[in-house]
Amino acid sequence: MQRIKTVDEMRAAVQSLRGQPAAAGNGKIHGARSIGLVPTMGALHEGHLSLVRAAKDRCDAVVVSIFVNPTQFGPREDYDRYPRNVDADCALLEREGVDAVFMPDVMEMYPPGTTTYVDVGPIGERLDGASRPGHFRGVATVVAKLFHIVEPDRAFFGQKDAAQVAVLRRMVRDLHFRTELVVCPIVREDDGLAMSSRNGYLLPDEHEQALVLHKTLRVIQSRFAEGERSAERLLSAGLFVMAYEPTVRIDYLKVVNPKTLEDVSEVEGRALVVLAAFVGGTRLIDNVLLEEPFLVNVIPAQA
Ligand code: PAF
Repeated sequence: MQRIKTVDEMRAAVQSLRGQPAAAGNGKIHGARSIGLVPTMGALHEGHLSLVRAAKDRCDAVVVSIFVNPTQFGPREDYDRYPRNVDADCALLEREGVDAVFMPDVMEMYPPGTTTYVDVGPIGERLDGASRPGHFRGVATVVAKLFHIVEPDRAFFGQKDAAQVAVLRRMVRDLHFRTELVVCPIVREDDGLAMSSRNGYLLPDEHEQALVLHKTLRVIQSRFAEGERSAERLLSAGLFVMAYEPTVRIDYLKVVNPKTLEDVSEVEGRALVVLAAFVGGTRLIDNVLLEEPFLVNVIPAQA
């Protein structure tokens, strides 16, 4: 596995990975090998590894980026204390058979005097974009940079960051990127907590309290399965569960359109229930997709 620090080296590595003979049937482009990119901020866990495995299944070569991106953190957020353990991360990636890991430093990604950013418009100001102003501008900017450097055929993201996925889909469409976004299911701990690099901040009793996020979403999901379609009533069922953990402070709990992240009042077709909450000083997010059961048209048999 190559460990790469600079943009030039990364571009050269991609060129050489593309030039090697491709495995049959693995999404080739113009006879070259296909490249999958898994963008991460490191502190890797099973959620990240599920993205790596999906990339290995669907692409000839896999590049993982590890970069704690300063522009997506607010001034009072956890940029400085965000967990960094590049050697342990590389050992995991090596075991997964990753071809190259791109771990630039901040100066490499944001050369001094950088003034160009990607602004995705109003969608970037919803949900985490409302609570963390500038967050999605930072995410879109760094992902656009990574797409330009690696030029992946496919990039793999987790459904846990559903708002990030919506923002990046918009960016890919608006800026005509050729990269296909592949979204992989949320990976959970055995107790239901969605995996996150920030779970490591939780004290044991906070970990217990944090389970209320998943419990809340599950109750909303079962009300929906029972036929409830009013967002207001679905949310009040959720708030009732959240009230069992009064120390957990809700940032947002909403039913939104998965593409636009706008609130919906009635679930028609599909909707996303999104939840962000502070457990102690740690902000966690989780979500669940509500989908109408597929309606089959029954065609009467010919007499
Ligand atoms: O999801 C993340 O870990 C980050 O937001 C990403 C996509 C790697 C950009 O820094």
